[in-house]
Amino acid sequence: MRNALSVASECVPLIKTGGLADVVGALPTALSGAGWALKTLIPGYPAVMAAMEGAKEIWTTDDLMGAPARVLAKEVAGLDLLVLDAPAHFDRPGAIYLGDDGNDHPDNPERFAALAFAAAAIATEGAGGWSPEVLHLHDWQAALTPWYLRTMGGTAGTLLTIHNVAFHGLAPASRLNALRLPSEGFNRDGFEFWGQINMLKAGIVAADKISTVSPTYARELTTPDFGMGLDGVLKGRRNDLSGILNGIDTAAWDPATDPLLDSHFKTPRGKAKAKAALETEFDLPQSDGPLCIVVSRLTEQKGLDLLLDALPALLDRGGRLALLGTGDRNLENAWLEAAANHPHVSAKIGYDEALSHRMFAGADAVLVPSRFEPCGLTQMFGLRYGAVPVVAMTGGLADTVIPANAAGLKAGVATGLQVFPVTTDALAHALVRLCNLYRMPEEWGQIQKNAMKQGVGWRASAAAYAALYDEIAPA
Ligand code: ADP
Ligand code: GLC
Repeated sequence: MRNALSVASECVPLIKTGGLADVVGALPTALSGAGWALKTLIPGYPAVMAAMEGAKEIWTTDDLMGAPARVLAKEVAGLDLLVLDAPAHFDRPGAIYLGDDGNDHPDNPERFAALAFAAAAIATEGAGGWSPEVLHLHDWQAALTPWYLRTMGGTAGTLLTIHNVAFHGLAPASRLNALRLPSEGFNRDGFEFWGQINMLKAGIVAADKISTVSPTYARELTTPDFGMGLDGVLKGRRNDLSGILNGIDTAAWDPATDPLLDSHFKTPRGKAKAKAALETEFDLPQSDGPLCIVVSRLTEQKGLDLLLDALPALLDRGGRLALLGTGDRNLENAWLEAAANHPHVSAKIGYDEALSHRMFAGADAVLVPSRFEPCGLTQMFGLRYGAVPVVAMTGGLADTVIPANAAGLKAGVATGLQVFPVTTDALAHALVRLCNLYRMPEEWGQIQKNAMKQGVGWRASAAAYAALYDEIAPA
């Protein structure tokens, strides 16, 4: 087995705000079957430190972006974890990126620069007698690593995976020294971005290879509509950029054995029971239309404002909607209001992993109308649990759902519905189609069956990552 270090700001089951954590938590098992042993370096937030009792100290420093720090090693939940214990940066209550006022912590650049710096140091000096051949860096929080590695003279190969190009990690130019970045890198070919330091751009220009989490998003990223100002830079690295589709953890998400469900199911009869339980839990009346769910962060990206406007198309045809989500205050309130106004809409504001499992188990359909979606995981949970995905035709959503159009239905391969363009009208149209298909038992049954059979695991993508690691590892 060869050694790699995966570096990220979140990792399931210890700390999660979104799909990044699912993916980072799943990679080590996925890659171990492909010849690579992964350790995972994450920050020592309070929730993470709570799991580190008895851990071994493998690296220390007096000054990591202005504060003492050490790295602890321990196996937790089957993961080989390295944790950056730096209390000045990470020992804070509440959300991991945000302060009490709901804004980003002003020192987020330094906090995650510390993570990147520690990763580069581990790769260069080794820690506890171990060093990686490859550094797998996730998003802007780990993206400065290649710059530090260069300064230290490290030789590990670097792969930057972009999970969401919307988050750049911006810092004013005055923080160059505090971030220990070389001033010669502060230009258009380096990490300068309209007069600021852009940490994601730093990784894009300096990593050996760049990947993102679906083939379609890899193409979209090089266009002005999706590149969020980094499309030009990404285009410049087109030959080193690839799209590798995320998988889901098919052991945790298995309708036949899911420990978070009361009664497991593999059959439509099991689904009916789970559906009845979900109706009770969300206080939704019975009807002859599909029971739809949304499990999502409530942000502009996810297009749930469009869904609010398109709702009549669903409700007029007996459809119902149960939503679980948290995020933007205005969207939370808008959904609570919709639930108050329509008996067939029910919304729970909050984050609840176990409830999300019960929702996929009981739903007829999961709605994912994202404006952009690098990969998306909930449509894959839907596939696996026979909750037919209705998705925007973008990013990983386009790559994981076989549309129930005339051709897809005729060939008997359809696994969901696609919406294009991502507008209220097109979404309303898709909801009408959903309701119609739901009333055609033969076609509906076929779609559900296809969905549950579709491969959503890691095997192919693990092999693709391993091939990239092989390419960038020093000879
Ligand atoms: P993103 O990372 O952009 O939020 P993904 O679809 O990749 O989107 O991943 C979201 C992950 O977070 C999924 O595992 C999803 O089930 C989970 N999730 C999102 N919101 C909630 C919530 N309110 N309660 C429980 N799980 C949630
Ligand atoms: C990001 C993206 C999401 C993707 C996840 C994991 O949060 O928004 O589409 O599935 O990362 O790669």
